[in-house]
Amino acid sequence: MITIICGTNRKNSQSEIVAGIYKKMAEEAGETCDFINLQDLPEDFIATALYENAGSNEQFNVIRQKMVEAEKFVIIVPEYNGSFPGILKTFFDGLIFPATFSGKKCALVGISSGVQGAVLAMSHLTDILNYCGTNVLANKPKLSAIEKNIADGQITNPLYAQLLKSQLEAFISF
Ligand SMILES: Cc1cc2nc3c(=O)[nH]c(=O)nc-3n(C[C@H](O)[C@H](O)[C@H](O)COP(=O)(O)O)c2cc1C
Repeated sequence: MITIICGTNRKNSQSEIVAGIYKKMAEEAGETCDFINLQDLPEDFIATALYENAGSNEQFNVIRQKMVEAEKFVIIVPEYNGSFPGILKTFFDGLIFPATFSGKKCALVGISSGVQGAVLAMSHLTDILNYCGTNVLANKPKLSAIEKNIADGQITNPLYAQLLKSQLEAFISF
């Protein structure tokens, strides 16, 4: 079972499209998948699900529980201001520590409009996940200029498709 996480709550994000492509690829490879989209976070999540309110937002608790039960997760990581989106860190801050993270396995896919392919974002995220006890797969595709390499819900660049395929294969046996 692989849980795929779209790492932004931005509407109509490229991350959501890549998450859908990844899920389809994983299912075609015989994996059962779950999908967590940060767009589905409750609107009042920051005010009602963090810190002293942890555990009291029923809508968020459903996602929180899914994350505790997930053993392997893939995060699609968009590059925002040279790092990963703040909403992703806020999401982590609302999860149960250390049960969500400890001993888990994670793979990261970086995407950006610019040339970096979220390489720094994935590096920052790897530090955090490792601190929390999650093992991060070394194979981290960096999909730069994403808008020029995706069309109609499909990856159009054969290299990018190959990078995702080889990461998925490595992650299945991770
Ligand atoms: C708040 C914000 C900051 C961004 N910062 C960067 C950046 O630092 N470098 C870059 O290449 N693209 C940046 N982008 C563009 C995203 O990488 C681009 O939208 C890409 O499609 C992935 O994000 P998405 O999943 O939200 O579509 C930024 C986008 C937003 C919304």
